[in-house]
Amino acid sequence: MITVFGSINVDFVTRVAHIAQAGETVLGPDYQVFAGGKGGNQALAAVRAGAPTRMVGAVGRDPFAELGLQPLEQAGVDLSCIQRVDAPTGAAFIAVSDAGENAITVASGANRLATADALSGLTLSPSDLVLLQRELPDAQTLAAARWARQQGARVILNIAPAGQLDPALLTFIDVLIANEGEILSLAEQFGMTVTSPDDIARQMDRDHAITTVVTMGEQGVVAWSDGVRRQIDALPIEVVDTTAAGDSFCGAFAAALHRGFGLTGALQRGVAAGSLACTQLGAQSSIPLLAAIETALDGQFA
Ligand code: RIB
Repeated sequence: MITVFGSINVDFVTRVAHIAQAGETVLGPDYQVFAGGKGGNQALAAVRAGAPTRMVGAVGRDPFAELGLQPLEQAGVDLSCIQRVDAPTGAAFIAVSDAGENAITVASGANRLATADALSGLTLSPSDLVLLQRELPDAQTLAAARWARQQGARVILNIAPAGQLDPALLTFIDVLIANEGEILSLAEQFGMTVTSPDDIARQMDRDHAITTVVTMGEQGVVAWSDGVRRQIDALPIEVVDTTAAGDSFCGAFAAALHRGFGLTGALQRGVAAGSLACTQLGAQSSIPLLAAIETALDGQFA
């Protein structure tokens, strides 16, 4: 089982000619509403990629809660540990430019009240995976990582969004996933002298024994584990919207590990899912199914 402890949002998405600068107003033609949140997106990506998945997080007592949870429920994600709290369900305001880039502002709402206590009644085994991100309070993410490690499960931390990371988290994780901006920010925080994402990943692997994966958009991913470097190219696609590409990678990567693939096979499946997610607008609306991932992989990595 994959347990995702993370954020659940409702995304309000509008297309714009360009992303607004500070102080600027940009007009978009209309907007669409999708379920989102890095936690919810990664849970959906994991279940769609073939792994039994449980989502743990918090929503409000408002109508947006059902909107945020509906795709997870429909896909068969276990929602029995979802907390209902006295705060509005998280919301994200997303502008997607004609070039497919995005700018996201998150109003955390109920996510700020999510607690790792919600995990305490669960029992995990070494075949289980726990998938974490950084949209919940740091102390709760740390408590979840510590608990998961005590249970003997493998712990994957996606350090999105970028920001100061509690160094204690590194004690409890097996795999760290970051994009280029996030890994550079981590290196700066830890005073590393190396400056390329590749070298930073190598150093994280060497100094902390953490498998470190850097997602690099159209350049695919680089990963270091046990002193071995792997690089997987992205699939050639037409980018519509990059929202949730990283989440799709994380969920499909975790699902492939859970299904018994080694690191290379899991990276390939994560890359395929991340690439496919860029071909459609929205977060959860764009997350691919297992069949699409495997079809996309056919002949790519022979
Ligand atoms: O990673 C994409 C997600 O970030 C969006 O779904 C939005 O809700 C924010 O959490």
